Amino acid sequence: MVNSNNVVILATGGTIAGTAAHASQAVGYTAAQLGVEQLLAAVPDLGEVAGGGLLTEQVAQLDSKDMDAATWVALARRCVHWLARDDVRALVITHGTDTLEETAWFLQQVLPSGSKPVVLTCAMRPATALLADGPQNLRDAVACAVDAHAAGVLVVAAGQVHGARAVRKLHPYRVDAFSSAEQGVLGWVEEGQVRWQQRPVGAAAGGAAWPGDVANLPDSDWPWVEVVSSHAGCDGCAVDALLAQGVQGLVVAATGNGSLHRALEPALQRALHKRVPVWISTRCGEGQLVAAQGMAAQHASQPRPVDLPPFKARISLQLELLAQRG
Ligand code: SIN
Repeated sequence: MVNSNNVVILATGGTIAGTAAHASQAVGYTAAQLGVEQLLAAVPDLGEVAGGGLLTEQVAQLDSKDMDAATWVALARRCVHWLARDDVRALVITHGTDTLEETAWFLQQVLPSGSKPVVLTCAMRPATALLADGPQNLRDAVACAVDAHAAGVLVVAAGQVHGARAVRKLHPYRVDAFSSAEQGVLGWVEEGQVRWQQRPVGAAAGGAAWPGDVANLPDSDWPWVEVVSSHAGCDGCAVDALLAQGVQGLVVAATGNGSLHRALEPALQRALHKRVPVWISTRCGEGQLVAAQGMAAQHASQPRPVDLPPFKARISLQLELLAQRG
């Protein structure tokens, strides 16, 4: 029967598709081993949860620590392809946990505004584990994707729904590894139903960094942007070495409310002098930079404070530099 109400599962690898030699192994395993059909087979009632048909595509098969621009662009293009189809209601992306928040932020920035929901999900334990979390997360992600209030790019893991901007992986091992910190979760998935406590924002909300069509995103040769940090014993050597190698943008994971080690500041000034943009983020796990009362407007020759954690800021700066290329 032709179904006009499909959910598309796009698989990219990760621990959710990982396998270990023994069921007792929750850490010593290999990510990205199972194909998308095997992930679906572990959730027998997934079609009922979707309330329609399930379509699948294996977009990539990698450990997400190895995520790269080419895979992101391929994924974004497949999202746009499926989202444009009238018979598709929502997308679910299976992904590794390690860079999941970066992919979520990238998609939130490049997918067309008003897109149907795109829900990323993952697992902290491989599919072969005694208590694998992947099947439940996949079921919850599909339940969330077909919820009437779902919008934009969301992350579902451990029964929680997070927004792409706030979500961060905060724990290397625990099943509930993700947090939206002070913003709080958007909701919870309970017995196949979402209980929202905040309404999600749509894709490209909050200042889309990519103004154009994802077809125009280059597959490679993205601007080289690095994250550097301000820390005890810091100096400017790392920044100067990067400048010598041609780095095109810098994000500083600064202390506290954006403070910089005095030994780092001259190197950052040298970067700005060379027209290499410098964005300041905080290395704190929660909150965002707060401007001092009466502070003068930002000047182009100063580092720019941003309200994103360092690795999401890095993506936004890359997209901004790409947009400037025209
Ligand atoms: C990965 O990020 O692909 C491996 C780790 C994980 O999914 O938890």
